[in-house]
Amino acid sequence: MKTSSILDLSRPLTAEFERDPKGSKIAQILQEYARSKQCWKDFALFAPSVYTRNLIERNEWFELLLLCWDAGQSSPIHNHAGQNCWMAVLEGEIEEVQFDCPKTDARCELVQRGTKTYVPGKVGFINDDIALHLVRPKHGRRGVSLHLYSRPIETCQLYDEATGTIVMRTMAYHSIRGSVVAK
Ligand code: SIN
Repeated sequence: MKTSSILDLSRPLTAEFERDPKGSKIAQILQEYARSKQCWKDFALFAPSVYTRNLIERNEWFELLLLCWDAGQSSPIHNHAGQNCWMAVLEGEIEEVQFDCPKTDARCELVQRGTKTYVPGKVGFINDDIALHLVRPKHGRRGVSLHLYSRPIETCQLYDEATGTIVMRTMAYHSIRGSVVAK
């Protein structure tokens, strides 16, 4: 693949969803990009208090986000609103902790299933049939990962492990195609 900017990834990804709405080659496209060390640093934005969600592309098929994780930051435990999620690591090591929620009610007793570690160039996949999860960088270092949601996610559910409470979150972006919109 001759991708020069991360923005150019949009074309092969869209073509793949048009060819196969399930995106059977999406992992391969993201892996080729992640292994090619191509230009994404202009879109990386770190914030002291939270990991940042930086939108690269959004269309009817998917949204593509660059997530920047400072040391010690973590996503909450969340679901994926019925959508598919691919994650490719670009820098650092990223840990995914998966959880089951055996009884879905207003409250939920989470059961930790296991953890996976992704190094640069590795691609993971999750949806609600597989598990809930949280994502975070490892070893007290920064990490950068590319996340593709198909289709785009407007809201998802967050799960509090200590209390079992479930709340709805509206998804937000810190930057859109390189322009900062929130800090
Ligand atoms: C997020 O998109 O904010 C969390 C990361 C993920 O679900 O993969």
